[in-house]
Order: sequence, then structure tokens, then C-alpha cells
Amino acid sequence: MYERGADVMINVNIDKTQKFVSQAELENIKTELCTAHRKLLDGSGAGSDFLGWVKLPENIDMEEFSRVKKCAEKIRSDSDVLLVIGIGGSYLGARAAIEFVKGNFYNQRTNGGPEVYFVGNNLSTDYINEIIEIIGERDFSINVISKSGSTTEPAVAFRLFKELIEKKYGKDEAKKRIYATTDKCRGALKTLATNEGYETFVVPDNIGGRYSVLTAVGLLPMAVAGIDVDAALHGAKKAMDKLTNTESFDNPAWIYAGVRNILYRKGKKVEILACFEPKFKYMAEWWKQLYGESEGKDNVGIFPASVELTADLHSMGQYIQQGERMLMETFVSLGKPQENIIVPENSQDFDGLNYLAGKNVDYVNQNAYLGTAIAHEDGGVPNMLIELSGSDSENFGYMVYFFEFACGLSGYTLNVNPFDQPGVEAYKKNMFALLGKPGYEDLAKEILKK
Ligand code: PA5
Repeated sequence: MYERGADVMINVNIDKTQKFVSQAELENIKTELCTAHRKLLDGSGAGSDFLGWVKLPENIDMEEFSRVKKCAEKIRSDSDVLLVIGIGGSYLGARAAIEFVKGNFYNQRTNGGPEVYFVGNNLSTDYINEIIEIIGERDFSINVISKSGSTTEPAVAFRLFKELIEKKYGKDEAKKRIYATTDKCRGALKTLATNEGYETFVVPDNIGGRYSVLTAVGLLPMAVAGIDVDAALHGAKKAMDKLTNTESFDNPAWIYAGVRNILYRKGKKVEILACFEPKFKYMAEWWKQLYGESEGKDNVGIFPASVELTADLHSMGQYIQQGERMLMETFVSLGKPQENIIVPENSQDFDGLNYLAGKNVDYVNQNAYLGTAIAHEDGGVPNMLIELSGSDSENFGYMVYFFEFACGLSGYTLNVNPFDQPGVEAYKKNMFALLGKPGYEDLAKEILKK
């Protein structure tokens, strides 16, 4: 297994793609990666208005960052629950960070901090009612996050929970418990926040939602959950220093972006992100948004899917092994567990597991990975392994930057604009027309004719 080097925190192992990707193909894609790399650094590519994330780790607004930490302390001291209202890029990063760093069961083991729940990421009545019930009579605060300030799902949730918090505390105290993260000067949420006097944080103009987890969008909920946000930014800075300054296959982002593009051109249209740690589940959700929204356009793009292992070996495993051969797979390993668990000896060996007695459960897990990777390679599924050196805050920041940078490289290599998302509007227009939003009357007539 990979051991952490002095300043290496991510390694991409492509041994199990070698039957599918030749050395010559790797050599050939270098020129494209080099062009993509320069576009990210000099802003000469499509969507260059949204490259603020590239230098974000060294351009942090320190005044805002210290306000984030101060507000997180206040929320930790006066709230049993923090409700984070947002969707897409205004939601997934914070949720991913909390599970990745604090573990699978943060809300059951908050260590004195508030429980953190996410709403506004769906329109489910049952889900909203369950959250209201969970809050009950307890003290709570709200962090409403929307760059545009007008996305329907979080807007509906905020209207409901704003009423609830104002009823509970009165308007004046409620104002002190609502934190808005939104555009610097535009949008309905910004206007409301200014009029009501909410503490407000900014989603920078030049950073799109899916690249925003290391701004206040992710940092405030993370800090409330007790994550070391300084360390997360430090990790991202380390990644930035390494990845932006390495124009070769010594750059793990080049390897990842290069190999997935070569495989895509050979018909591997779907990439499955796979991890043997359940706490990676929401990281995979975040990754799916990042890569799906960045690359899926102009009738091209690798479809990002994910599985949680070993659980999904007993559901999706059959398809991956023998279904249509349009799959590539990327495993992610998270380094060593925090504390080992040893499989105990049993005198009756009632389950036939004594051959594992004295071994770590993690040893079993690592061999499950190895067995799976070999089987999938044999079954025609090339697979890479992204090796992280751990799952603490610093590794989180490093990994986020790695995936973002690789996504920019990969998107430009695919010849798309990795920083827009024009397709997201289609469902919204139909929904507005069906709901009778003023201005959508003609579309409503058209839809009803269908
Ligand atoms: O990445 C994106 O831009 C989107 O996923 C947005 O984050 C999402 O649609 C939410 O938008 P907003 O923050 O404007 O409410």
C-alpha cells in the first residue's frame, strides 16, 4: 500500500489500466494536457471568468475567513442544530466534508457541537416534516446558501424555516441566527439579507457553485461541525503548489485526467468512482456533480457514477463484472483507519473465519479491494487507484483541489467549457411553467398540449 511521503498526499496508480492504455497513447495526450493546463493558469480557455478557484487557496479573504470562524463558534455555543439550506454546489461539498472528516455518524457523535442537517436539496414534504420534527423544541440556526439567491428548492425551504425560526425566537433574535451565503451584490437573497441585517458571506463571482466548497459555502458548515478549516485550506494550498507547477506525469491530476480521456475515446463512456469506506459516499456525490456538470455537454462527456464498497459488490458487482463493457473505474483509498480492529479467534470456528483470526479488519478490506480490482480488470474494466494519505481536514482540502484541477484539465481535453451548466435550466423552465410562475404562460400552454 502507498505510504505518505514528505509532501506527497495523493498518488494515482494506473497499473490496472495498462492492458487498455498504451505508453504511446499516454505520450500523445501530453500535448493536450499541457494546453489544458496553460488554459487553467492563463485564463485563455472557455469559461475563464470562473477560474477563481485556481488560486483560491492563496487568495482567501482573511477578514471573511475570521468571521466564518467566529460565527461558527457562536452557532456552536447557542444552537443544538444547524440547518444548512442549499442545493447542488451550495450543499454537496459541506455535506461531503462533514462525513469524510468527522465520519459516518457525525450527528450521533457531535462531541458537543450542533447536529447539522441539510434541507433545500429536494422538494419532499416528508423530508421537510422530518427535519421540523428533529429540531423539535431545540435551539437552532440557519445557514442559507444560494449564489443566485433564487433557486426554487432552497427558496421554498428558507421561506418555511424562516417563518419557523421567527415564530420561535421573534424577528430580532431570529435575525441573529440566520447566516446568508450568497452573491456579493445581486439576487433576492442578498437583498433580503441586507434589508434584514443577516450576517452575510460571499460566493465570489469568479467561482461556480461546484467549485465553491473551500469558500464560505463549505467552510461555515464545516467549521460548525468542528472541522479544522485552517488545515483544509492548508491542504488545498499544498495541492495548488504541487499541481499548478508540475507540467508532466509527475502531476497526479495529469495522470487522472489523461487516462480517463484516453479510455473515454476507446468507448469507456462511464466512470465509476468506488471506495471501500462508506464515509466517502458524499464525496462521491460531490465528485459526480463536479464532473457531470463540468463535462456533460455538447453531446459528449464521461458519465460519472459511483458505488459504495463492499456493499455494492452485492448489487452492482454483477453488472460491473459482466455487463456492457463501457465502464472504467476509479478506486479511492483513504490511508489507514484511525484505530485497528482485530478479528477474534473463536474456539468453535462456527463461521470458518479462524483463518482471519488476529488480522485487522482493514487487512480484510484491503484484500477485498485488491480482489475486486483484479477481477474487474480481468472482466474488461480498466481501473485506477487514487491513494490519499488520510481522511483528515488537510487531506480533504488536498483532495478537493486535486479533483477540481483534474476536472478543469479533463474538461478542456474533452473540448468543452468545464465551467458552465446551460443544461440545468431546462427542467426549471418547465417546472416554472407548470407551477404558473408569471412570465411562463406561453411555455405552459405548449407543455399542456403535449
Ligand atoms: O454548480 C452549480 O452552479 C449548481 O449546482 C448550483 O450550485 C446549484 O444549482 C445551486 O445554485 P444556487 O447556489 O444559485 O442556489
